[in-house]
Amino acid sequence: SDPGLVERAHAAKARLGDRLFVLGHHYQRDEVIQFADVTGDSFKLARDAAARPEAEYIVFCGVHFMAESADILTSDAQQVILPDLAAGCSMADMATAEQVAEAWDVLTDAGVADVTVPVTYMNSSADIKAFTGRHGGTVCTSSNARRALEWAFAQAGRGGADGKVLFLPDQHLGRNTAVRDLGMSLDDCVVYNPHKPGGGLTADELRRARIILWRGHCSVHGRFSLDSVTEVRERIPGVNVLVHPECRHEVVAAADHVGSTEHIISMLEAAPAGSRWAIGTELNLVRRLAARYAPQGKEIVFLDRTVCFCSTMNRIDLPHLVWALESLADGKVVNRIQVDPETEHFARLALDRMLALP
Ligand code: 13P
Ligand code: SF4
Repeated sequence: SDPGLVERAHAAKARLGDRLFVLGHHYQRDEVIQFADVTGDSFKLARDAAARPEAEYIVFCGVHFMAESADILTSDAQQVILPDLAAGCSMADMATAEQVAEAWDVLTDAGVADVTVPVTYMNSSADIKAFTGRHGGTVCTSSNARRALEWAFAQAGRGGADGKVLFLPDQHLGRNTAVRDLGMSLDDCVVYNPHKPGGGLTADELRRARIILWRGHCSVHGRFSLDSVTEVRERIPGVNVLVHPECRHEVVAAADHVGSTEHIISMLEAAPAGSRWAIGTELNLVRRLAARYAPQGKEIVFLDRTVCFCSTMNRIDLPHLVWALESLADGKVVNRIQVDPETEHFARLALDRMLALP
């Protein structure tokens, strides 16, 4: 990275001292992650943001929904900054508040809303988290989806056999968790398509389903296929395939291990020298891990032959970070992410339920 910019970022951080706290998601570029005070998966970063009440400015190197969650979990006096406002998430954009309210009407008309608890993935807007909070549901991340679903089913229909979960917005995380961790069958899952009347489902299909999956997905993880797994197993004998649960069900079913970004890192940390790994997640992280563990004799490759960055995570680059830090050091707050008080109140209910999961 540009040495002049690196020097300016260090200088601006030094001027801000303890008033500043920089959070970095594992998918961030190397040039940015070097300035993070803590790095983590979405769950860890949400907890870490809440654990720094003395920091006046929280600069979030990640995407919009993460910065919103940090704003919700921190005090009103703290200001959360996203260095580039264009750093969104295409998956989070796949569920809007209007669409989700309409879906709830569909469930109500089918007579199943009373026994349904919503669970929303962290990768959703504050509006969707607020909807979830209002209807007695919880947020989850890829590291606690199993516990969140178990909790939600215990609430739904008072734990009876007719209890259901509406899982937003990532159908893959919902399906993978229901099938792999809760032992459900694929027939227990239905997909609600917000672009079709009634979600494209009959009232009878809704009544029979255990888990209603929103038709959302991650475009980055959606690119891994069963062929990627077959091809890497042929190419690298004895390879361990480790993928993120945002991958499609057939990819997860064919993999050896599945987990959040934090889990992926701890598995590689604990892996023996000489072991070989193919990783199905975003490329900035995979490249960093490959470089970190190569000296220890661990061979780490990207699961697919085609390159696959998260383009919105990549929006946060060193020039944007330097601009944000220097502006703050000069007393000018830029790109503040602020959730309105009512949305914040209900979204916080759903986030707090997640933080209280056993
Ligand atoms: P985790 O870091 O929680 O595994 O999530 C991955 C992701 O897609 C964030 O956008
Ligand atoms: Fe969204 Fe996928 Fe990028 Fe994560 S990797 S921020 S889910 S588009």
